[in-house]
Amino acid sequence: MPDLAGRTAVVTGPTSGLGTATARELARAGARVVLAGRSPDKLDATTAEITAAVPGADLDRLVVDLASLGSVRTAAAEAARLGPIDLLVNNAGVMATRARRTDDGLDLQMATNHFGHFLLTGLLWPQLVADGGGRVVSVSSFMHTRARHAPLGDPRTPPRRYSRWGVYAQTKLANLLFTYELQRRAEAAGAPVRALAAHPGYAATHLLSYGQTGRGTGGLASILNAVASATAQSADDGALPTLMAATADLRGGTYCGPSGFSQLRGLPRPVGSTKLARDPEAQRRLWEISEETVGLGWP
Ligand SMILES: NC(=O)c1ccc[n+]([C@@H]2O[C@H](COP(=O)([O-])OP(=O)(O)OC[C@H]3O[C@@H](n4cnc5c(N)ncnc54)[C@H](OP(=O)(O)O)[C@@H]3O)[C@@H](O)[C@H]2O)c1
Repeated sequence: MPDLAGRTAVVTGPTSGLGTATARELARAGARVVLAGRSPDKLDATTAEITAAVPGADLDRLVVDLASLGSVRTAAAEAARLGPIDLLVNNAGVMATRARRTDDGLDLQMATNHFGHFLLTGLLWPQLVADGGGRVVSVSSFMHTRARHAPLGDPRTPPRRYSRWGVYAQTKLANLLFTYELQRRAEAAGAPVRALAAHPGYAATHLLSYGQTGRGTGGLASILNAVASATAQSADDGALPTLMAATADLRGGTYCGPSGFSQLRGLPRPVGSTKLARDPEAQRRLWEISEETVGLGWP
């Protein structure tokens, strides 16, 4: 990790799993890290946890519920006080939750994993370009390979049959379509921001238990967490591809993941993505749908 003193990094979903590890290591490298989470109590606990591991860590916070477009707008307005932002890590996510619509009429998984981050990135864009070297890193998944098609329908019309895992795969495909289109648009606009993506392989976090039970611990959630701990790599190791995408000297559009068998674990390296993820028409169309859905045209 290079020295990040003087840099500002915003990390979404810092209150658990990969986000905590990512935020902690960015802080250890000297960055001012802005913890962007939805629960003030959990932000307090994460602040204490990171400070215990990295005494003197420079931490700030933003309260944001990514499943609410209004909350994202409020948080972005508050973020104006931060000044230039060097790094935005779009890490927060939910996986395979039950069919649920948000107050904005969007699918919960699509709202949290894609639309909330699309709006947040767009609203923070002026601060990301301000210092001439910003980066946006979005956390995708090997599950993007399971998406049969891109999420290009009307996002406010519920599907006839809901596939929890199918929608999750589409949200992770959306993270890559977003990254590649953002990189193209930033280049076209001459904006000095790089867009990269990462995936952790399979890492022991609360993602599975939260998606299946609606909570991170207790009862079935604890059993699922124990299974993940026994079979997956650690959250710290899972955060390495994100940290590589965030800090290594890489071109915009690079996707980092683990180098081991089936990209499930191991040290990070640049990896490939599916033909569907690299489809420029799908990238363009998702961008247009996203602009319309969140009510913001950018860059
Ligand atoms: N773990 C894996 O094996 C794996 C594999 C592939 C991809 N990923 C991706 O990695 C990312 C991080 O997941 P994780 O494994 O670290 O899971 P995790 O332990 O469940 O952490 C998820 C984080 O997202 C936050 N979050 C969820 N909904 C939110 C909302 N509406 N607004 C704001 N924050 C919200 C959670 O906040 P709360 O603490 O408040 O719930 C938590 O901080 C996700 O994008 C996931 O898709 C993980």
